Amino acid sequence: MSTNDLNNELPHSPAAERNKAAILEKLKTILKGNERVFEIGSGTGQHAIHFAKAFPELSWQTSEVPSRVSVTSAVLSTVHLNNIQKPYALDVCDEIWPEINADVVYSSNTTHIMPWDAAKKMVIGVAKILKPNGLFILYGPFKYAGAFTSESNKLFDMSLKSTEPHQGIRDFEAIQKLASEHELYLQSDFSMPANNQLVIFKKQ
Ligand SMILES: C[S@@+](CC[C@H](N)C(=O)[O-])C[C@H]1O[C@@H](n2cnc3c(N)ncnc32)[C@H](O)[C@@H]1O
Repeated sequence: MSTNDLNNELPHSPAAERNKAAILEKLKTILKGNERVFEIGSGTGQHAIHFAKAFPELSWQTSEVPSRVSVTSAVLSTVHLNNIQKPYALDVCDEIWPEINADVVYSSNTTHIMPWDAAKKMVIGVAKILKPNGLFILYGPFKYAGAFTSESNKLFDMSLKSTEPHQGIRDFEAIQKLASEHELYLQSDFSMPANNQLVIFKKQ
């Protein structure tokens, strides 16, 4: 996560700050506004806060890997929004996921950070916690037909791999195939600013 945590300031992600407005505009066209959302990899919680403020009837359950739950908690403790729930400690590789029937699972900028094996487990886990007709909303950069959508994404991929060899921009088709094997069918794939995508899968 690109997070500044200097001088005891709150953890803050410049990327989340940049992309939250465009994502919200798209979410306004997708959500009714009263859904029960489960977020995977909430990070600094900036998306949760921005979207929960915009949709006061929405219920937004944050989550983070156990080692970083305190990051999400620290930021959420500064706001008083009764439609955001404290982060659930979830590593997508966990055997046991929360027993919920989510209307929506949201995850942003996670598939290229976690190992591919974990990304696969995320898709399988999401399929289990989504109710029929529920949506899996996945935001981030992807490759299509093996190609990056921009030179900057190619450089980003190289930089990810040089820091952590298990990281990297994923093949969209691999995610789509895996999703469809678990009854998550592609509904939309929107191009977003800065060479990102907002992908919607619908649970059958
Ligand atoms: C680049 S940050 C994105 C954070 C936030 N979603 C955002 O868009 O600002 C990647 C996030 O993926 C989370 N993550 C990485 N591996 C994970 C795993 N195995 N299970 C759940 N979350 C994971 C990290 O802890 C981190 O919060």
